[in-house]
Amino acid sequence: MSLSSLAAGAVLDRRDPVPPGYVAPPYYPTPHGGWVSEWSESYRKASLLVANMTLAEKTNITSGTGIFMGRCVGNTGSALRVGIPQLCLQDGPLGVRNTDHNTAFPPGITAGATWDKDLMRRRGVAIGEEFRGKGVNIHLGPSVGALGRKPRGGRNWEGFGSDPVLQAFGGALTIEGVQSVGVIATIKHLIANEQEMYRMYSLVKPGISSNLDDRTMHELYLWPFAEGVRSGVGSVMISYNAINGSAAAQNSYLMNGLLKDELGFQGFVMSDWLAQISGVPSALAGLDMSMPGDRNEIPLLGNSYWMYDYSRAVLNGSVPVDRLNDAVTRILAAYFQMGQDQNYPRPNFDTNTQNAEGPLYPGALISPSGVVNEFVDVQGNHAEVAREVARDAITLLKNQNNTLPLLRNASLKVFGTAAEKNPDGINSCADQGCNKGTLGMGWGSGSARYPYMDSPIDGFKSRGSNYQYFNTDSFPSNSSPSPNDTAVVFVTADSGENYITVEGNPGDRTSSNLNLWHNGDKLIQDVAAKYTSVVVVVHTVGPVIMEAWHDLPSVKAVLFAHLPGQEAGTSLMEVLYGDTSPSGHLPYTVPTSESNYPASVNLVGYQIGQPQDTHTEGLYIDYRHFNKESITPRYAFGFGLSYTSFSFSDASISAVTPLTAVPPSRPAKGTTPAYSTAIPPASEAYWPENFNRIWRYLYSWLEKNDADDAAEAANSPTKYPYPAGYSNVQTAGPAAGGAQGGNPALFDTAYDISVTVTNTGARAGKAVAQLYVQFPQGIAVETPTIQLRDFEKTSTLQPGASQTLSLRVTRKDLSVWDTASQNWVVPSVNGDYGIWVGSSSDSLSLRCGTASMTCAGGQASPV
Ligand SMILES: *[C@@H]1O[C@H](CO)[C@@H](O)[C@H](O)[C@H]1NC(C)=O
Ligand SMILES: *[C@@H]1O[C@H](CO)[C@@H](O)[C@H](O)[C@H]1NC(C)=O
Ligand SMILES: *[C@@H]1O[C@H](CO)[C@@H](O)[C@H](O)[C@H]1NC(C)=O
Ligand SMILES: *[C@@H]1O[C@H](CO)[C@@H](O)[C@H](O)[C@H]1NC(C)=O
Ligand SMILES: *[C@@H]1O[C@H](CO)[C@@H](O)[C@H](O)[C@H]1NC(C)=O
Ligand SMILES: *[C@@H]1O[C@H](CO)[C@@H](O)[C@H](O)[C@H]1NC(C)=O
Ligand SMILES: *[C@@H]1O[C@H](CO)[C@@H](O)[C@H](O)[C@H]1NC(C)=O
Repeated sequence: MSLSSLAAGAVLDRRDPVPPGYVAPPYYPTPHGGWVSEWSESYRKASLLVANMTLAEKTNITSGTGIFMGRCVGNTGSALRVGIPQLCLQDGPLGVRNTDHNTAFPPGITAGATWDKDLMRRRGVAIGEEFRGKGVNIHLGPSVGALGRKPRGGRNWEGFGSDPVLQAFGGALTIEGVQSVGVIATIKHLIANEQEMYRMYSLVKPGISSNLDDRTMHELYLWPFAEGVRSGVGSVMISYNAINGSAAAQNSYLMNGLLKDELGFQGFVMSDWLAQISGVPSALAGLDMSMPGDRNEIPLLGNSYWMYDYSRAVLNGSVPVDRLNDAVTRILAAYFQMGQDQNYPRPNFDTNTQNAEGPLYPGALISPSGVVNEFVDVQGNHAEVAREVARDAITLLKNQNNTLPLLRNASLKVFGTAAEKNPDGINSCADQGCNKGTLGMGWGSGSARYPYMDSPIDGFKSRGSNYQYFNTDSFPSNSSPSPNDTAVVFVTADSGENYITVEGNPGDRTSSNLNLWHNGDKLIQDVAAKYTSVVVVVHTVGPVIMEAWHDLPSVKAVLFAHLPGQEAGTSLMEVLYGDTSPSGHLPYTVPTSESNYPASVNLVGYQIGQPQDTHTEGLYIDYRHFNKESITPRYAFGFGLSYTSFSFSDASISAVTPLTAVPPSRPAKGTTPAYSTAIPPASEAYWPENFNRIWRYLYSWLEKNDADDAAEAANSPTKYPYPAGYSNVQTAGPAAGGAQGGNPALFDTAYDISVTVTNTGARAGKAVAQLYVQFPQGIAVETPTIQLRDFEKTSTLQPGASQTLSLRVTRKDLSVWDTASQNWVVPSVNGDYGIWVGSSSDSLSLRCGTASMTCAGGQASPV
């Protein structure tokens, strides 16, 4: 018995007890894909191939060929006989990782802070063009999970903010953009992947279990995935953690039930890298693609749960060939859906090296070498959209005495190492695993190499600013303060992925807490003691505590520039000097203390056995919690100032689709491809004669006697021990399903709201209108005080100019998930919903009521 199979028996298949009440119910079988009309042509094309593919060709497509066994982070096997090449999968959400001549876009959290739907989509198009240009078939983004439940969570910055609707628009618009140029997008990580520590299953420890109830699942965590599926996403990546004790990669309720049946997902589900912990159970539970292909405990040995073992599992009858056919059809349908059969470029870069030449299979001990990097420039004019995102995300939090914008001749003293590039080199830390110099992104697989870094100091230089720079994080004794000086202090807070620890932070912000790094508080305090006018610029992954200096009399202005990617300098100058008014708004709440949060969103530390992470706060994360507990934050979710001012007026509401307590019945599923269900002949999995094998490479073939034995086993009376609740009979699907995203009636517009935004100040600027729903009083179910449901940003408005914005609320926006009926229910059809529109979650005075069908300003704020 091998070490790994021993471990599998001893640890990996074990389920530790979860807290009482949390269960991972069985949900079988995997619903066949192909039943929505938007995908039927692609399924038709795919099914013609699948009907003709051999067993070994099919299992080749469903798995990677092994870690470090090709140019991309993930490389599937091919089926060249039917014209399907190896598919290239590559990180990450902010641009092509580990390459050259690419753009390092601002990450999701920065895109979220723009609150600009058009910009989110255009950023997606530009990202898609770069992946296509590098020959990537499958882009491993966007990330909408982590949702941002835990302020210290390491990867929140890869997503769009701590609210399901902001994440949903960010994710869906990115998907639309990326897929518009033929790249398959991957929405990730399904689901409740809210901290980095203890996330993975290993030889010695099961991954963390996120335990959450059905309503919280639907109303928070699943919401952005529903919108991603609705926008036609081709791929979903499953997370490392367990949900209710069952690992995501073999959780049938999650993949078969929620994702494929209820949300009507038509693409394919891949594992996160080494998140797969079993062969047959993961296939039956709905996993379609194993990445990077290796077994999880000890990768690189040439062992896989799938590939040759999937061929075996089909031959011996454990996995019905029907399940494999569906998985392959889903993968090939996504390929056809994006038009990748039409002149799609092959990979022209190598994620494993920056050199022109290198080993073709670095994971093999001995590998042939060849040209692996062709240095294809894919940047186009993408720096422009990257800069626009970086600029329009900048969130002005404080600006006393009109300290900003700066006058052209302002005398500046600039402090902080974050104002200038990392002196060791902008890409000197692998996967940006350090916080040195200007912080443009967090670290980990969601990072990219910088083609250049336009630092703030570069920005001051190219403006011809009158500045003196002190490249230090300790206050220098020689800065000779003058009363005319404005001091600009650059500070940071970083986080990232778990496989790299930076300054004691293993991905999550464990040792830094929510504080600024590098004694940023002290630097600001020291500068504020000597200068009378101090501007603080924060580059951060998420909320930071600012109490040590925020109210000091000389701290006149505070800006969150979030994570600007490569375009840190010019974007900031345009705001600091007032070419553009700041128009970003916070995509999360900024607390006054970490104790503002519920204890259940703290990071979970070491626990014997499986770490349990129970979402006892339910729906009450971020502003939902602050509002419920009447805690005044330092800055509320959605907050952001401008150099000008805006009024919201002339609001009106009109009813569109009448509400009913439950949505109209779902449409029935359309037909799906039908194939023979007979177990294929063992010969379809035999190794070809004289095949030149690459050592450790993962192949889908079996030795002849192994294949024959497996076929024999299919006839034995000993059957595979299927899980309780297992079935192989397709069903009509749940009432809440019916199309991509769920029952299409959920997305009917219930009310259109229009509001006129007027620039009442003296400078040009853009405003954001945020729409929050307050459920009617007296309903039987408890709901958060207010919840974001829509938003729009104006174009640049000159002083005195107006623009009318259209917002909408759907049936789903006004519903709650009813766990008893397993459906979205409108708790009060004729009730008076408050539809609040304003510039921030704590600045709402314009209310439209669905009972009176009128809107009025000057109303008492709901929070
Ligand atoms: C987790 O358990 C809760 C409580 O029983 C249940 O409502 C929910 O549907 C379960 N979720 C999953 C994904 O198994
Ligand atoms: C695929 O089609 C070819 C040509 O029609 C046929 O010879 C071959 O047997 C088919 N293969 C399978 C596996 O169906
Ligand atoms: C599986 O993919 C590998 C890598 O492209 C290829 O060498 C092999 O021939 C493929 N196997 C089948 C059965 O097509
Ligand atoms: C069939 O093969 C799979 C993969 O090796 C294995 O997990 C399963 O137990 C086998 N089933 C039977 C009935 O032998
Ligand atoms: C700055 O503004 C504060 C109040 O916002 C005011 O009390 C103070 O006098 C102003 N200082 C200057 C120099 O204008
Ligand atoms: C900048 O110019 C303005 C007049 O345009 C003047 O009032 C101000 O004192 C100047 N500031 C500095 C620091 O020279
Ligand atoms: C401050 O600026 C004014 C106007 O530019 C100038 O006259 C004065 O000398 C400056 N003071 C110092 C200490 O530099």
